[in-house]
Amino acid sequence: MAEPYYITTAISYPNGKPHIGHAYEAIAADVIARFQRQMGRDVRFQTGTDEHGLKMAQKARDLGITPAALADEMSQHFIDMCDGLNVSYDVFQRTTEPRHHAATQELWRRMESNGDLYLDRYEGWYSVRDEAYYDESELTTGEGGEKLSPQGTPVEWTVEESWFFRLSNYGDKLLALLETPGFLRPESRRNEMIAFVKSGLRDLSVSRTSFDWGIKVPGSEDHVMYVWVDALTNYITGIGFPDEGGDFAKYWPANLHLIGKDIVRFHTIYWPAFLMSASLPVPKQVFGHGFLLNRGQKESKSLGNVTDPMALAGQFGVDSLRYFLMREVAFGQDGSYSPEAIVTRCNAELANSFGNLAQRSLSMIFKNLDGQLSANSPQDADRELLATVRKACAVDLVESFEALDFSNGIEAWMRAVFACNQYVDEQAPWTLKKTDPERMKAVLLTLFKAVRDLAIAIRPVVPTSGDKLLVQLGIPVEERSFAALADEAWYQRLVDSGFRLEQPVGVFPRLELPAEDA
Ligand code: MF3
Repeated sequence: MAEPYYITTAISYPNGKPHIGHAYEAIAADVIARFQRQMGRDVRFQTGTDEHGLKMAQKARDLGITPAALADEMSQHFIDMCDGLNVSYDVFQRTTEPRHHAATQELWRRMESNGDLYLDRYEGWYSVRDEAYYDESELTTGEGGEKLSPQGTPVEWTVEESWFFRLSNYGDKLLALLETPGFLRPESRRNEMIAFVKSGLRDLSVSRTSFDWGIKVPGSEDHVMYVWVDALTNYITGIGFPDEGGDFAKYWPANLHLIGKDIVRFHTIYWPAFLMSASLPVPKQVFGHGFLLNRGQKESKSLGNVTDPMALAGQFGVDSLRYFLMREVAFGQDGSYSPEAIVTRCNAELANSFGNLAQRSLSMIFKNLDGQLSANSPQDADRELLATVRKACAVDLVESFEALDFSNGIEAWMRAVFACNQYVDEQAPWTLKKTDPERMKAVLLTLFKAVRDLAIAIRPVVPTSGDKLLVQLGIPVEERSFAALADEAWYQRLVDSGFRLEQPVGVFPRLELPAEDA
């Protein structure tokens, strides 16, 4: 039985269309999901939209529509983005779905029966933009003297009757959890959370009475739940909670919640505390990725530099965008992108290095060997090249991807591509054609094997192009896994099947910088 692997993204507020940060997170999660599937795991991949709360209610009011209409319209853009970017989610969980209301109310009841909920009055600061409560001591002062949240968003003084969650009871358990190696990554985010817990946890306001766009508190119908209680619960709704058999039994606790670094507090403090209160296991790992900057600047409406990720994908291709993001940004840190950087990176590595290697190797096999594969007698140089490629693909890239260090994993892969190109130059098969056709054949068939390994390894990052190439190589879908890299018999099987290579078609086009960016 394949080992289960459950990965989630944060669910987005559908109060506007998706921006590049949403695309980045969805793509990274998809690369992980595809990688884990290729590792033979039984992957469950969930994403969705976070549709309740004051932010959604206010946005809808500004637009003169109902929050439900806003949520329906905008959620569709997030679904379209995922589909357009080839994001292979299993479940797209919307928090307005009835089953999510039921799951969240059940979690609430469990926290209540554990004695962790009580009614009181909240008086304090709230940021609608962050949907977060802040302590006075956390606030900063803006240029005009106004109070700002630690994220730089406006806060408003809020006074209302509210249910509270006894977060203060969970300090020790949360500290122990935060100290657990691997629970929160990257490491750098840990100290901040530990400091927050050590500074003393105050009970958390978990319901609102001043608006009604949310999930009703069971038995207290004039309250709706704090949107983060509702949002976080999506992770268990999508696997069937409160039914604790079936998918829940199989996939919970999640292997990985992939989120942005700004919402680590909700995922490593509030969420584990809610789960502990309900006697449910906590997630195995939370990873807070960095932000993507547009030429080093945060995108904003006022700067007029907001990029539609689908336009970018349309311009350069989905796989190019995916490759760029995973290759360029050290995962966990902030990264920067620009059309020039995408074009430069993809042309140098995908088009000129890997694409060119594949295209010229396959063309030579097509022209000089009639596309026919056969047994050949390898020399040391051939065996060495294949060993180098195999190690990069099956060991180095795999280890880096398991550790979510994508840029390093791809770099190791790229080094193997360089080794292949160097081998082509050294062996000069075009010369061997006249001097030693048998040797030429051995060289070309070595390249065929190397290209197959390289294509399998990079496929989680560039699934469409990887598959287009593997189809040309005659590699069946079920032989595109990392385990297949260790299967020595694949080549002979292909030869025996009488497979013949057709005129190859390049799969990594050279990108052009559009005139307005040049
Ligand atoms: N909607 C929140 C945001 O965009 C994220 C919610 S993630 C969840 O910041 F897990 F809580 F759902």
